[in-house]
Amino acid sequence: NRRVVSGLQPTGALHVGNYFGAVRRCVRLQDQGDDLMLFIADLHAHTTPQDPGKVQENSLELTALLLASGVDPERTVLFAQSAVPRHAELCWLLACLATHARLAHLPQFKEKSANMKEVPIGLLLYPVLQAADVLVYRGTHVPVGADQVQHLQVASQLVRTFHHRFGKLFPTPRPILPDDGSDRVRSLRDPIKKMSKSDSDPKSRILLSDSDEVIKLKIRKAVTDFTPQVTFDPDTRPGVSNLVTLHCLASDKLIEEAVEEADGLTTAQYKRVVGDALCEALAPIRERARQLRARPDLLRDVLRHGAARARVRADVVYADVADRLGLTTI
Ligand code: TYM
Repeated sequence: NRRVVSGLQPTGALHVGNYFGAVRRCVRLQDQGDDLMLFIADLHAHTTPQDPGKVQENSLELTALLLASGVDPERTVLFAQSAVPRHAELCWLLACLATHARLAHLPQFKEKSANMKEVPIGLLLYPVLQAADVLVYRGTHVPVGADQVQHLQVASQLVRTFHHRFGKLFPTPRPILPDDGSDRVRSLRDPIKKMSKSDSDPKSRILLSDSDEVIKLKIRKAVTDFTPQVTFDPDTRPGVSNLVTLHCLASDKLIEEAVEEADGLTTAQYKRVVGDALCEALAPIRERARQLRARPDLLRDVLRHGAARARVRADVVYADVADRLGLTTI
């Protein structure tokens, strides 16, 4: 049986990379009948300095957006990571199996720690906590963007080490990567880079909360190149190709269909098509999120209900782990 696990950090507004790359794919797996655990990675958020009020606010906002995107809290277990202490407990045990050298080598760690004078250990342990997030439910599949693949390799390595020391207990979790380009939506301002919440230029990303006008403006300002025709070639024409990808994701088209539709249009004209497609896809989510945002009690209830279910599942797995490790849990 598949068990799908995924998480998102409450570190700011969701952008279309998060949405197409993770959220919508989770919703589709849910609708297809997969058993899905989806959580707000608020413990991960604290690997970089956070304003506590913002973490709280962003967590509820993220919950609203997830529900607005079609997450059904009856079918999917939706909760905050910090409400299930087993994540952090398993993280400790896995941390005892992880090596400093392996973690310090990861590109995301190197990038994030590069400009820090004092590097918090939590930042180093980031992928170990992520492994615990998945293993504590015996997760088999993890839908994520391409940026998370290396973190999942750490998870499968930890599984191997665990099995070697204590015997077989976990399935090896596998990333589920899409083939429609949604695993790597690129920055609108610098299409060599991925679209990112932390980019200093707000025009580099389209947020789920952006109005139609703002979406269209950001697409209009998107960096392309000096060739007016629309073609799809991510290596030589990353900017235009990213627009084609966004067009396809927003309107559920194949690349060939989008390129054909763009035939005879200049990139400037095509941007209007892409902007319209994005507005059409995102407006209903924005509207539902607006209604949900006005009901924080309902959002908290959803998370409470999810956490109660998640704790039961995590306890079962953790009991097996504790048993294997000779821990006295009673
Ligand atoms: P986070 O919050 O940075 O991103 C949430 C999800 O969005 C994906 N993503 C993208 N996909 C396509 N194009 C982009 N430009 C883009 N940017 C982000 C991410 O890959 C992710 O799927 N470490 C995770 C959170 C996490 C997690 C987990 C995920 C914690 N524990 C366990 C899976 C399983 C993160 O930082 O996501």
